[in-house]
Amino acid sequence: MPNQRKKIIAANWKMHKTFHEGIALLVELNMLISSKPTKHTIVVAPPYIHLQSAVHAVADTGIKVAAQNCHQAPQGAYTGEVSAEMLQSVGAEYVILGHSERRQYFGETDELVAQKIKAATDFGLKVIFCCGESLAEREAGTHFELVKHQITTALKSFQPRVIKDVVVAYEPVWAIGTGLTASPEQAQEMHAFIRETLQGLFGAEIANNTPILYGGSMKPANANGLLSQPDVDGGLIGGASLIAQDFFDIIHSIPA
Ligand code: PGA
Repeated sequence: MPNQRKKIIAANWKMHKTFHEGIALLVELNMLISSKPTKHTIVVAPPYIHLQSAVHAVADTGIKVAAQNCHQAPQGAYTGEVSAEMLQSVGAEYVILGHSERRQYFGETDELVAQKIKAATDFGLKVIFCCGESLAEREAGTHFELVKHQITTALKSFQPRVIKDVVVAYEPVWAIGTGLTASPEQAQEMHAFIRETLQGLFGAEIANNTPILYGGSMKPANANGLLSQPDVDGGLIGGASLIAQDFFDIIHSIPA
């Protein structure tokens, strides 16, 4: 019997799309989705500055809006930063935290990501927590250890009632924006390992109910193979989410 976990397809726009381009993309996506509705959860993560307008643009469609980051403090003198409460106040429901680009270019550590998860969940946001190894780590065979360490450090201090609001995204860094994708077997192997890690930390119920998304060059041509794996509960999509038809085709690649 197929599992009962929620399936989630999330769009991470990164630093792409001006205001008008972003709204046009959402309007196109709305049209496609209303022509062929989906029962799955669809999330879009535009840049901060478009969030409030994105919330209005998708009102009544069922699409959820996410931010791509937040600051760990509730408020304060942090020029240029945005708090979880601010995100919640404009209608964002999710926030992506711990993305490898934040780790690589902005020095985010697992400890900092844990603080951000606390800030986000304190204000009722759901978190898409990203983890995943670099090419060097995969080649050295340390990828399982690394992913376990990332998950354990970022999540271990939380109660199960907080973890219920966390979605894990496994994103091998070597597959992000490179056109290289993990094979369905590689994704399944790591997703099963992540579920086992969650079970060790929080027990079977949390492990069985936590959606684990795959991210890294997912596109219409490879989505079905990845999304057909028993422990792959959806996708976090960068490049292909910038084209409405491609993102829509990925949504409909989830096996019935
Ligand atoms: P990609 O990005 O689909 O362009 O590889 C995925 C991500 O970084 O979330």
